[in-house]
Amino acid sequence: MSDRAYVAGWGAALPDGVLTNAALEARIDTTDAWIVERTGIRERRVASADDTTASLAIAAGAAAIKRAGLTPDAIDLLVLATATPEQPIPHTGAFVGEGIGLRCGSFDLAAGCAGFVYALVAGSSMLVAGGLDHVLIIGAETLSRIVNPEDRSTCILFGDGSAAVVLSRASGGDGPGLLAWDLGCDGSAVGLLEIRAGGSRMPTTAATVADGDHYLRMAGQEVFRRAVRAVVDSAEATLDRAGVDASSVDWFVPHQANARIIEAARTRLGIPAEKTIVNIEHYGNTSAASIPLALAEAASDGRLQPGQLVLASGFGAGMAWASALLRWGTP
Ligand code: UT7
Repeated sequence: MSDRAYVAGWGAALPDGVLTNAALEARIDTTDAWIVERTGIRERRVASADDTTASLAIAAGAAAIKRAGLTPDAIDLLVLATATPEQPIPHTGAFVGEGIGLRCGSFDLAAGCAGFVYALVAGSSMLVAGGLDHVLIIGAETLSRIVNPEDRSTCILFGDGSAAVVLSRASGGDGPGLLAWDLGCDGSAVGLLEIRAGGSRMPTTAATVADGDHYLRMAGQEVFRRAVRAVVDSAEATLDRAGVDASSVDWFVPHQANARIIEAARTRLGIPAEKTIVNIEHYGNTSAASIPLALAEAASDGRLQPGQLVLASGFGAGMAWASALLRWGTP
């Protein structure tokens, strides 16, 4: 039997600033009632001028290493999922490695809100294939920096934060670890959720800034429709690969994009509400940080117990989707 990557530790970092629906009501044409009914969000965390994607990632990553009972020199690889990198060059992992004290390889992984699960799959596969002992996986975002504060269809949704896990290698056996996964991307839908300017297609100019092309744009309704289908199909493909029935899943950890998407997806999958981790109320949509933040919260408060089956599923820009089935706990 081949080796397996299990979660040996976790950590989270959230900026102190809280942006409530009441504060948004005072700024744009919206209401607390609309936001709560349509999204389930009541507040989100917002980075201060001193917080960056890397500073949040460093705090979350260091906490995960500590929780795993390790020191930074034990980490063999860093995979950092983000849609809001520290700078265009170099990659955010370079800043984070320096902040934590790593000299191992690192790379960023851009797959929007599916990024963390993509990183989990990439990191665990490299751990197994390369015989690595410990891989640090981080999801980190400062979405407040790319959202148009005047666009009421997006600025109410997104928040900032980071969370991380340390994957460690168990040799053989059928204990805890990543059991199965599914990745996908339908690039015919790139225009549904995008920042047009700032890349090779449309380099930043005074005109792109004047047109607001450096801000995130989203066709919310269409993303919503596709998201439910992507999560359900991807989660089912993952369960099929593991030979596990949805009724055996102990915890469903969906990307926290909209409480209505979560509700529709978990209902179609046949997973009860009490087995679904939902924290969107307090953090909004934190893209690549949302699944690890939910995992870290449920692990820290004791909901996740050794031996339990955890199904994580994310989707977003691309449109990319990713699911992973894990058995929680350490060997
Ligand atoms: O992370 C992965 C990617 N993102 C997502 O998964 C997000 C997916 N989409 C969504 O969550 C939802 O589509 C939204 C929350 C963005 C919007 O909810 P919706 O129920 O799809 O609303 P809608 O876009 O159909 O808009 C309904 C109405 C519109 O007014 P009219 O045209 O009916 O008069 C909007 O202008 O609600 C209006 N509206 C608002 N009203 C108050 C849009 N935003 C707001 C707002 N406050 N913040």
